[in-house]
Amino acid sequence: MIYLKNAQQLDLMRKSGALLYEVLCRLREAIKPGMSTAELDVYAEQLIRKHKAIPSFLDYQGYPASICASVNDEVVHGIPSDKTILKEGDVLSIDCGLILDGWQSDSAFTDLNVGVGAISEENRKLIEVTEESFYKGVRKAINGNHLGDIGNAIQTYAESFGYGVIRDLTGHGIGRAMHEEPSVPNFGKPGHGTRLRPGMTLAVEPMIAMGDYHVAELEDGWTIVTEDGSVCSHYEHTIAINEHGLPELLTYPGFALTEEAE
Ligand code: MF3
Ligand code: CO
Repeated sequence: MIYLKNAQQLDLMRKSGALLYEVLCRLREAIKPGMSTAELDVYAEQLIRKHKAIPSFLDYQGYPASICASVNDEVVHGIPSDKTILKEGDVLSIDCGLILDGWQSDSAFTDLNVGVGAISEENRKLIEVTEESFYKGVRKAINGNHLGDIGNAIQTYAESFGYGVIRDLTGHGIGRAMHEEPSVPNFGKPGHGTRLRPGMTLAVEPMIAMGDYHVAELEDGWTIVTEDGSVCSHYEHTIAINEHGLPELLTYPGFALTEEAE
């Protein structure tokens, strides 16, 4: 069952999303070579609780932290650790979620600045294409379009660079629960899948690998890695198809999607 949000509920989700945006901005600024991913996790939890929100990842199905910190060949769900010390050139993805007044938001980014300038050209391109694939998809998140339009736009763009689009993990509906229906694949056929309607709130989250799209799970029961060991990038926002039937980035307040020449 897909829960459509009314205007008042969308407003509450905007507030939740705006707070998560602030948290992720602070985290971005904090990332430095030499620090551990556990330090970033402690900082994230402090920021979230300071604003009377709840870290949604912590204790979710037993998950032990407030963020996921996935490095290099780790795709998602990397568990923060004081043994994972960031070094220049690492490709670090941070994923975080919170609950404010009962409403969830979920957002992730892959950092371009662990040791500014140290990221290889090849990895920088992967990170930029992952972000742009998200925007290509989200521009299709319009009343009357279908989920497959989003997935197809993401897939077509990412694959045009020879990258692998992870298939085993998807985006998802989000609202009072972190994971609601529908699931939001990063691949698909135009015109296929659930029809998009005003009031739908979705976490759209392309996970793009330099190499092949097959993944494996580590023994910790959480961390997902690429099977071929290639570097992976992740970008996610909680979005709404708003009252006007248009995509709105709830975890990137004020961001205006521009029209794109086809
Ligand atoms: N952001 C992740 C998702 O989109 C959730 C992380 S799983 C958790 O599904 F256990 F870490 F919470
Ligand atoms: Co998500």
